[in-house]
Amino acid sequence: MPTLHITYYSADFDEDRWIPALQAAIPEARVSLWQSGAPVADYAVVWKPPQQMLDEQAGLKAIFNTGAGVDALMKLNLPAGVPVIRLDDAGMSVQMAEYVCHAVIRHFRELDGYEADTAAGHWSYRKPRNRADYPVGILGLGVLGERVAKAVAQFDFPVRGWSRSPKAIAGVQCFQGPAQLQDFLAASRIVVCLLPLTPETDSILSASNLAVMRPGGYLINVARGAHVVDADLLAALDSGHLAGATLDVFRTEPLPADHPFWVHPRITVTPHTSARTLRSESVAQIARKIAALQSGQGVAGLVDAGRGY
Ligand code: NAP
Ligand code: GLV
Repeated sequence: MPTLHITYYSADFDEDRWIPALQAAIPEARVSLWQSGAPVADYAVVWKPPQQMLDEQAGLKAIFNTGAGVDALMKLNLPAGVPVIRLDDAGMSVQMAEYVCHAVIRHFRELDGYEADTAAGHWSYRKPRNRADYPVGILGLGVLGERVAKAVAQFDFPVRGWSRSPKAIAGVQCFQGPAQLQDFLAASRIVVCLLPLTPETDSILSASNLAVMRPGGYLINVARGAHVVDADLLAALDSGHLAGATLDVFRTEPLPADHPFWVHPRITVTPHTSARTLRSESVAQIARKIAALQSGQGVAGLVDAGRGY
């Protein structure tokens, strides 16, 4: 007889792969797809679940989010006292480091310009840039942001970071809190957004904050689309204040076909792919955490509902 019941729901991932993987990793459990009216489970493993699921699953011991960002869950009316546990890296930080380093280097080394030149059959050189003129600022120094900051620092860029609480990271000039946001932005030419989406960070990349970035600045948004005010970013690019942007996340996903970001000559669009949820790493992490919770131990990745991340 199974001693545990795990209910699974995902708006995006393939349940035909996730449920057998969870079942194999936690053989003592019965893992099933959530449906309306299903019996109440011990644990829920979810991505963007409907409110109805949480309303019906009263008595859960914990809710596991199969992503790092919990903004979709935080919009719901969550059951009081039930811990929400996010993915804690699970193979995402190395992907994010690859993506951001690629975007930083592509911009700094003008590889986009060289691609255009060589496609047109031009053998032409661009003047080498001085990396001291391209300080990289990471908004958010959490699981992903710290790894990204350290990876970018490997290429000898000056690196800044901004977080809610004070940090000390070798090779990174750390700023914290709203009082130091302007100083952080003024000290950054390439800004990477790796903040969670919360009421405090929603629309943080607005005209007034973009204006503080160094002229010729570059934005890389790999967090959530709602961090950026789309019209303000377009205005900053079109005025020449910003040189370009690489955007992986958008207010509406998929990015609507008529959105100006698709065709803007200085915007690179990717389809929310900078750090994917990796099934085997994620399932192994969730299985380890359920075993820890079952034996009364604490786990990493607990979400603080008051902070929203
Ligand atoms: P995390 O570990 O929770 O780190 C969040 C960081 O942001 C922390 O350093 C935190 O400061 C800081 N922060 C939060 N609110 C702040 C505020 N109001 N002011 C200043 N700093 C603030 O999150 P993570 O795992 O690094 O992930 C970050 C986000 O990346 C996720 O929430 C998700 O939206 C996004 N993401 C995107 C993808 C993708 O494929 N595009 C993949 C995974 C994740 P403290 O350290 O002081 O708490
Ligand atoms: C992806 O965007 C995540 O939050 O894991």
